[in-house]
Amino acid sequence: MNDVQQLRQKHILGLAELSVEEMTLILQTSESMREIIDRPIKQVPTLRGRQVLSLFYESSTRTKASFDLACKYMSAGAVSISKDSSSLTKGESLRDTVRNVEIMGPEVVIMRHPSGGACHYLARNVSSSVINAGDGTHEHPTQGLLDMLTVLQHKEHLDGLNVVIVGDVFHSRVARSNIIGFSRMGANVVVSGPSTLLPPYIEEMGCQVESDLDHALAEADVVYVLRLQLERQSASYFPSLREYTELYGLNERRLALAKPDALLMHPGPMNRGVEIDSDVADGAQSVILEQVPNGVAVRMALLYLLLGGGE
Ligand code: CP
Repeated sequence: MNDVQQLRQKHILGLAELSVEEMTLILQTSESMREIIDRPIKQVPTLRGRQVLSLFYESSTRTKASFDLACKYMSAGAVSISKDSSSLTKGESLRDTVRNVEIMGPEVVIMRHPSGGACHYLARNVSSSVINAGDGTHEHPTQGLLDMLTVLQHKEHLDGLNVVIVGDVFHSRVARSNIIGFSRMGANVVVSGPSTLLPPYIEEMGCQVESDLDHALAEADVVYVLRLQLERQSASYFPSLREYTELYGLNERRLALAKPDALLMHPGPMNRGVEIDSDVADGAQSVILEQVPNGVAVRMALLYLLLGGGE
């Protein structure tokens, strides 16, 4: 791992800002990090003395825990603040939070925020490197990277793969990062869902739209089911959950329409029985639980690359 200079980015704000070469470097470095995670003693001294601050202004299990573990495995000093324990609950503005972060001077700030663009604002106003851990409905770049890593472990290349993303694309930062990431790496990305949950500009991001899910699934190498984000929906985008499940829920019959070796993915948390049936979520084609440790590996790789590899 002597090619850290190849990552020219100071921040990881979105996959839209990363080149194919940079994504490839991150994915290759993540593979090396997997080897550390698989050891009985999962700790290396690489980032000893380096300081990382995490600000989670929205709920998270996987992303927060995996960033915390990534810091521990790399021996970095880590401070983690969640929404309910922060001064946000006392009405502090993002601007004031940012000014306080800047004066404390961590080397990397990881932030999840309900507003799209909040991480860009942070990056413009602090000298630390900023990693976007999910901002509103904009991007979730580390999720996109861990998803690509998971597919690469099974398919060896992304180029030419047919990736079908199904569900609530409108509210999904995961969908945006995956459309950008997979299509930039040469995959054919198709999105499917109710037209009310497909943003009108979505094809400009490099994907095709197929509203008939059964049709979209033919020849799929990867079936990526999105969480129905009921908490972000202020309007009624479909008549009932039952109707959504009937038309867009992933079940055994639908998965059988894809290639026999198709991978089934979901970013979590899952609404079992709504967008995905338990039979397939826990079935032989599911790699959903493989996505999670790959999240630790990707986040270790990003800390390593942004902090100069422990130079
Ligand atoms: N996939 C994902 O971002 O999960 P969390 O919300 O639990 O972090």
